Amino acid sequence: MALIPFPLARPFLFGLDPEHAHDLTLAALARIQRTPLIALVEQARVDDPVSIAGLMFPNRVGLAAGLDKNGRCIDAFGAMGFGFVEVGTVTPLAQPGNPKPRIFRIPPAQALINRLGFNNDGLAAFIANVRRARFRARGGILGLNIGKNAATPIERAADDYLIGLAGVYPHADYVTVNVSSPNTQNLRTLQSDAALDALLSSLSARRVELAEEHGRNVPLFLKVAPDLEAAQIEAIAGILVRHRIDGVVATNTTLARDGVAGHPNAGESGGLSGAPLARRSNDVIAALRAALGPRFPIVGVGGVMSGADARAKREAGADLVQIYTGFIYKGPALVTDAARALAGA
Ligand SMILES: Cc1cc2nc3c(=O)[nH]c(=O)nc-3n(C[C@H](O)[C@H](O)[C@H](O)COP(=O)(O)O)c2cc1C
Repeated sequence: MALIPFPLARPFLFGLDPEHAHDLTLAALARIQRTPLIALVEQARVDDPVSIAGLMFPNRVGLAAGLDKNGRCIDAFGAMGFGFVEVGTVTPLAQPGNPKPRIFRIPPAQALINRLGFNNDGLAAFIANVRRARFRARGGILGLNIGKNAATPIERAADDYLIGLAGVYPHADYVTVNVSSPNTQNLRTLQSDAALDALLSSLSARRVELAEEHGRNVPLFLKVAPDLEAAQIEAIAGILVRHRIDGVVATNTTLARDGVAGHPNAGESGGLSGAPLARRSNDVIAALRAALGPRFPIVGVGGVMSGADARAKREAGADLVQIYTGFIYKGPALVTDAARALAGA
């Protein structure tokens, strides 16, 4: 599927169940990456280097977490011109996620609803995949996104994040702590003041030890939900600064259903992504920028479907942008469009 140009492949892929289309595409990409066949999906990387959180990003456009949960296709996405690639969410142990079907398209709104629930092969398999990738050696920035197993009680969530942090630390340019998926029960309660303070306090302390052990300070980012009140955003900003977290990724998918009413899939439970999320995500980015001041690194994600949408994220206050749903609807050309739209901006 990845072997034919996206405009031709899309009608075929959109005729399949979304998760099946996804699995076929990733399997094809995994096979051709690191072979000469990668030329079939290769695109020149827009050269627009920028230093954020102490890292040199080759351009401002990244792949959002969750598209490559097991880190199997890092080099394929690198070949498409992403300046950075975030893989995961990985949990300490492999887990199947929620029952299928669990991804739904809403094409008239250029949106998806998913309730995957961190299906992944676990930390050991993830690290083995990450170690094989050559993307970092070619100047790409690799983010590794960590979460908790569904079976771990929420009171013990920190244990899972600490295992994840120590496991991915030596292989990451940055690590994202994901407390904002709507599809793992109670996960989002980790965004509330006391819980977030406790979690980030443990992770920061562990990060100091890991920096010593590995001789390198790996930036820690926190990924937040779009469904936050103004007061909660301010509280999160204060906690990020207090624990010297290096950046924030805003946002994950939303529980809101604005912009999809009336579509047969609109009533599916899970997180909504794509075009209808853009404004809500931009509002959270703007509120974070106001609370955090001009220098704090913000990665903007949610509803980037065009170069203009990427620019709107920059205008809202994001330093970098990431793409997931836009890639499903628009294909690899969007990577170049977005990176060009942001070049020099
Ligand atoms: C099918 C699917 C799976 C996702 N899985 C993850 C995940 O494992 N971890 C994570 O942090 N975000 C995950 N996300 C959220 C995306 O990274 C992104 O924050 C969100 O979809 C908004 O961006 P978009 O509108 O460009 O898709 C997932 C999104 C989708 C659509």
